[in-house]
Amino acid sequence: MAASPPRPQVAGPAIRIDSHLDGGQERSLADDVLDGLTRPFKELPPKHFYDARGAELFDRICELPEYYPTRAERAILEHCSPALAEITGAAELVELGSGTAAKTRVLLDALDAAGTLRRYVPFDVTETMVRESARELTSEYPGLRVHGVIGDFERHLDRVPAAEGPRIVAFLGGTIGNFPPGSRRRFLRQIARLLGAEDFLLMGTDLVKDPRVLEAAYDDSQGVTAEFNRNVLHVLNRELDADFDPEDFDHVALFDREHEWIEMRLRARRELTGTVRDLGLDVHFDAGEELRTEISAKFTPERLDGDLAAAGLEVAHWMTDPEDLFALTLSRRTDL
Ligand code: AVJ
Repeated sequence: MAASPPRPQVAGPAIRIDSHLDGGQERSLADDVLDGLTRPFKELPPKHFYDARGAELFDRICELPEYYPTRAERAILEHCSPALAEITGAAELVELGSGTAAKTRVLLDALDAAGTLRRYVPFDVTETMVRESARELTSEYPGLRVHGVIGDFERHLDRVPAAEGPRIVAFLGGTIGNFPPGSRRRFLRQIARLLGAEDFLLMGTDLVKDPRVLEAAYDDSQGVTAEFNRNVLHVLNRELDADFDPEDFDHVALFDREHEWIEMRLRARRELTGTVRDLGLDVHFDAGEELRTEISAKFTPERLDGDLAAAGLEVAHWMTDPEDLFALTLSRRTDL
């Protein structure tokens, strides 16, 4: 392969990290618990799964035979990254929820080979993961600058630094499916604001398919997803001094055909009352009562087009795996 053309030299350190977390996460957990566990239909947002143990369990989920999205998305990236590099000519990659940046390397490799890559902007709540990937990537890609942003992408998206060239904003994994329909469109509108006329959104979405395949992906035979689901109770116990016994709850995963989303719930095995001491809150569960912990929307092309259109975006390239399990889309703004 031909050598990459030389990159312009940029003065200044290769790594910059801005943190916007200020204890606001604990507040957000407390607010979500107060709000969500006092409703007639109990509910907690899925973002609270991901403490260190939750992140580790999620990594194990990605390796499960039943959990196809990670493998399917990686296969699409491997196949399409050179074309993505050529189409976008991107000088920077902004990644929302970058985590360990495992799949990101596939894309960075292609942008690096095309000779356009100058900056990577990982955005994540977990500071250690951003720091670690910044260190690794600056040594793996000489000349690459990393500007990490540590924050909650629902609150701090406006802290993404101004573009320094054609950019790709990547939102991978199908995480967009965690948003209910209205907030999904609102969030996509916020993402669109990060894009200029030359820029693209690269988004992963899981596709509607046989409910048995979907339900198995969220209720694996080894019980890893069940542990991941119960982990939110460990988070409440630790962060808010609550006293739930996670073993009092069964893991439930079902595909809601009307809404076309997977719901994960925790179902009380018996009548019980948990106490959240930091909030002075008693939470009563009837036997069999459920707490919804996640929705994970599955998409048809029509649904995705509708959501993107509502945010002033339009699909320019649609990419899928050979089995049509998962889609990666490259979208642009229609209003610039
Ligand atoms: C990280 C949100 C994409 O919805 O498939 C995996 C999380 N939940 N198994 C998903 C998850 C249960 C995952 N996302």
